[in-house]
Amino acid sequence: MALVTMKEILEDAGKRSYGVGAFNINNLEFLQAIIEAAEEENSPVIIAISEGAMKYGWVELLSTMVKTAAMNTKVPVALHLDHGKNFDKILTAIRYGFTSIMIDASDKSYEENVKLTKEVVKVAHPLGITVEAELGRLLGKEDEVESDVAIYTDPDDAKRFVDETEIDALAVAVGTSHGAYKFKGEAKLDIERIKKINSLTGVPLVLHGASGVPHELVEEAQKYGAVLKGAKGVPNEEIKKAIEAGIRKINIDTDLRISFLLGVRKYLSEHPEIFDPRKYLGEGRAQVKETVKKKMQLFGSSGKA
Ligand code: G3H
Ligand code: 13P
Ligand code: ZN
Repeated sequence: MALVTMKEILEDAGKRSYGVGAFNINNLEFLQAIIEAAEEENSPVIIAISEGAMKYGWVELLSTMVKTAAMNTKVPVALHLDHGKNFDKILTAIRYGFTSIMIDASDKSYEENVKLTKEVVKVAHPLGITVEAELGRLLGKEDEVESDVAIYTDPDDAKRFVDETEIDALAVAVGTSHGAYKFKGEAKLDIERIKKINSLTGVPLVLHGASGVPHELVEEAQKYGAVLKGAKGVPNEEIKKAIEAGIRKINIDTDLRISFLLGVRKYLSEHPEIFDPRKYLGEGRAQVKETVKKKMQLFGSSGKA
């Protein structure tokens, strides 16, 4: 079927109290892995493309692939711009048929964040495009997305922000961070804060930096030469509690990156004579698919398409 909006996907998640994964792609293999996983799990899915991915994968190519994949599957697929920071990139995404946009002005003042978010809502809503914005600040760094101070989202500000901007989904800062090194000490989320923001705002809440960075996956990748010392993510139990508290969209990139890395490294180390990319990229793809399936089961979106 044609792409659907993220709003539509998250509305059903809200009604039936489950979470939906937003999985980042930069290339063909990740997209194939995610779509195949969604089909096998019969799960709705959000495909996320960052500004960095727009550049690396050529936005026209990536968006065309996603639209074609959606057309050829029965599960609902939304195409989402992840961490849109530049208005021209946001307009480009709209031009290429994205059905959802994140405007990330979380590094700006509250007033500036409201102003920029409202500008995006004004353009996107008449076109039927979903808008996600972020209030609060996550720790961490990944290419285009960077912050070295964490500011948890204030529930009263969140209510005011949602009322003023009329966004469809709100990304909150509740203890996660981007990348593979999320926690030095205890890996814990502020679940009470999520509950409070949920009850005050009523919009679907988004958890960025939600990768689990599973120990077994990291160990296995390290066996084949990866260096990921001290990598630590969000435990599955915390994710479940976060969904119960009102998180509806769960952003996963790092776990897919590590899965792909494992597949490629393992394949190359076991088959040093092979130079056909379909072989080692195919193994990376298979690992990503397995990880996505596990996430869909964890989030409760399996069987919900
Ligand atoms: O949260 C950011 C995503 O993981 C995308 O990262 O900007 O390196 O593509 P990127
Ligand atoms: P991770 O780095 O935890 O996978 O988070 C991804 C993300 O938030 C994308 O927006
Ligand atoms: Zn993010």
